Amino acid sequence: MTRIQIPRGTQDIMPGTVELWHYVEAKARELCRRFNYAEIRTPLFESTELFQRGVGETTDIVEKEMYSVANPRSNDALTLRPEGTAGVVRSYVENKLYGSPNQPTKLYYLGPMFRHERPQAGRYRQFVQFGAEAIGSSDPAIDAEVIGLAIRLYQELGLTGLSVELNSVGTVEDRARHREHLLAHLNGVRSELCEDCQSRIDRNPLRVLDCKNEKCKTLTKDAPSILDYLSEESAAHFEAVKDYLTALDIPYHVNPRLVRGLDYYTLTAFEIKMAEIGAVETLCGGGRYNGLVAELGGDDMPGIGFALSIERLLLALEKQGVQLPITGGIDCFVVVQTPEAKKGAFILVDQLRQAGVAAELDYLDRKMKAQLKQADRLSARFTAIIGESELANGTVVLKEMATGEQQEIKQDEFISVLAAKVQQAN
Ligand code: HAM
Repeated sequence: MTRIQIPRGTQDIMPGTVELWHYVEAKARELCRRFNYAEIRTPLFESTELFQRGVGETTDIVEKEMYSVANPRSNDALTLRPEGTAGVVRSYVENKLYGSPNQPTKLYYLGPMFRHERPQAGRYRQFVQFGAEAIGSSDPAIDAEVIGLAIRLYQELGLTGLSVELNSVGTVEDRARHREHLLAHLNGVRSELCEDCQSRIDRNPLRVLDCKNEKCKTLTKDAPSILDYLSEESAAHFEAVKDYLTALDIPYHVNPRLVRGLDYYTLTAFEIKMAEIGAVETLCGGGRYNGLVAELGGDDMPGIGFALSIERLLLALEKQGVQLPITGGIDCFVVVQTPEAKKGAFILVDQLRQAGVAAELDYLDRKMKAQLKQADRLSARFTAIIGESELANGTVVLKEMATGEQQEIKQDEFISVLAAKVQQAN
């Protein structure tokens, strides 16, 4: 029989690794608590139209990367979410959160996203994004707060050498003014640009500046910068964001070519990069989306957010050799010498578990020596041995593995003695 394999671009997160995920996820949630972002959980699939309208028809995500299926009961199609912002904003609108005086609405999410991309290091077809969105405020301070939240997560986990790439992609009006000049430049080199860029020039010329193709980069080196076309207000916003970042001691680098691959961005756009992580170096991306709430049917509310994938975060930690403080192992393995002791040990393990102790026993009829080996494999901090004499005396021998220290304890006192020791050690 041929074996069925895992789909390309996905991964099993196995015991031994999943603990790293738990640690990072707990850190992200804890930071959100401190920053006052509340969790929102939206569906893993949404109407395809949400992403067409939200993310944009001309983006790679919508053009090439969505997993969509026809909705069997109606004419519309459904799509596995390729990103979180559109769903969060849909929910913000649908639940009329824009009508609440409690603004900005600060939300975070942690869950799988799906993109049909070419898999490589740090690029998967299913990946987990941690993202945050602050909707309902135009204050540049919140732009810096959002960037700061991502940076603090990386810092608290122990990553170093990160850089924030910062740009302003302006308002719709700023871009309209820039577009004319940009088009004049791009049309001059049109035939030499890559196919993707040629098809993008008329639909979304700014994206041409974001092309990774070296030839396109050279050809557009002197293209007019959006930063020269910002209105006074947009420029002031950008200056204020930079100022707040400096106040938070977060270094940034202005990159006028940073466009981002999603169409909803206005004003602030940013990415957080690490020197080199495999083929992909961007750890996190985000920006403002001041028109999106209105585009999806709500009042005209501004918003800003970011998303980062846990996969790339873990890859970055690995690259930098950062060890997360993961403590594994169970508290106590109960070893029995004779089959007669089995039932008593079985009950004891249940009582230990009820008392908060992580406890285990043998289920493979192992000999005593093999049971001790199994206790070792499970990194048990203690072993409790019930031998023939202990069975006769109603006692248990407790051994602390690290010190080798042993004591004989009466069975009826054993639970409370061990529970206290375990609690103390925790
Ligand atoms: P994005 O740049 O498409 O933005 O993705 C954000 C982050 O998700 C990336 O920086 C990367 O860490 C991770 N990511 C994206 N694709 C993959 C992949 N195939 N495999 C592994 N990781 C990946 C967004 O998704 C926006 N929704 C961010 C945002 C939130 N903007 C405003 N609010």
